[in-house]
Amino acid sequence: AEPLRIALAGLGTVGTGVIRLIDTNREMIAARAGRPIEVVAITARDRGKDRGIDLSSYVWVDDMHAMAKRADVDVVLELVGGSDGPALTLAREALEAGKGFVTANKAMVAHHGLELAELAAIRNAPFAFEAAVAGGIPVVKSLREGTAANALTRIYGILNGTSNYILSEMERTGADFDEMLQAAQDQGFAEADPAFDIGGIDAAHKLAILAAIGFGTRIDFDAVRTEGITKVSASDIAQADALGYVVRLVGIASLFGEGDDRRLLQRVRPCLVPFRHPLAAVTGPTNAVVAEGDFSGRLLFQGAGAGDKPTASAVVADLIDIARGQSGAPFSVPSGALVQCVPADPGDRVGR
Ligand code: NDP
Ligand code: HSE
Repeated sequence: AEPLRIALAGLGTVGTGVIRLIDTNREMIAARAGRPIEVVAITARDRGKDRGIDLSSYVWVDDMHAMAKRADVDVVLELVGGSDGPALTLAREALEAGKGFVTANKAMVAHHGLELAELAAIRNAPFAFEAAVAGGIPVVKSLREGTAANALTRIYGILNGTSNYILSEMERTGADFDEMLQAAQDQGFAEADPAFDIGGIDAAHKLAILAAIGFGTRIDFDAVRTEGITKVSASDIAQADALGYVVRLVGIASLFGEGDDRRLLQRVRPCLVPFRHPLAAVTGPTNAVVAEGDFSGRLLFQGAGAGDKPTASAVVADLIDIARGQSGAPFSVPSGALVQCVPADPGDRVGR
């Protein structure tokens, strides 16, 4: 069978993880996808950098943007990062050219996901971003497909591995914030700018994406009320512990009301979580997402939320879907039929 031909932009934590995964599970992937998945072009900023893997057999392309024009490319895989700039330009170029486009870039999807989804629909090109939310947990697919028959009322959870790692390690070892942030950066969990992790922005990106998919609302990152973990001290954690709580950075999206009065509230902030709650047991760079459906009841998705291997797992799952011709519309409803939401209370900006 004809291979699915991938151009890979970005060879950092996730990009090298994808190369390793495709190499390791090549035959199994080909069997499940119905055809081989081949990386036919790669690029990053610095060609000479030691990335800990042998890239000598891959075709290096100096100009990332040339990838979208290559006739031998079916899918452009963007693992560069940044909500705008080269990643967004590449996304537009790839979809304009009718190529598939796969990304792990939650910042870009949170800000420009709807525009890209509309472009993908016009060009009839697959657009997928499972890895953008909750690393290895297939939560985008689960909310788009698995809970499709439900009216969801609430989606909440731990959506940033770096913050959860910092908080749970401070809790476990009494270590200080800066030391744990450095450890998260060393292990590749943190964003290039870790301010996004500890400031709650990264979790807000993911929450906005999940809310749009789960509720069929227009994605609205600017409406997420966001507070990070920078003000959480070791003594806050100790006091919470004495009272029977842990501190977790939690994102919550709730939809309430009927018809024209439907209201959506999206918030990310540090929360006191009682020891007995499932989210209290979520430690390290793990993520957990709870979705409440009218027929499914409460569903809990949990797993590694960051790092090379789990993220590569989600990226390659998207590629397999595309190889099978099964990549669905990235958002659950077409843009023309999006639910309109009005402010949840004065001062709240809400999804439209
Ligand atoms: P890294 O910083 O490790 O890697 C980024 C890669 O992009 C590097 O190889 C870099 O090149 C390349 N790059 C940056 N700018 C350019 C440019 N202008 N032109 C060409 N190449 C460029 O990031 P990650 O792998 O951690 O993250 C990649 C994406 O995945 C981001 O969107 C991130 O948010 C997302 N993500 C990351 C997760 C993680 O656990 N790390 C989990 C889920 C999503 P060079 O190496 O030469 O500098
Ligand atoms: N920086 C992100 C995190 C990577 O720590 O969760 C995964 O999206």
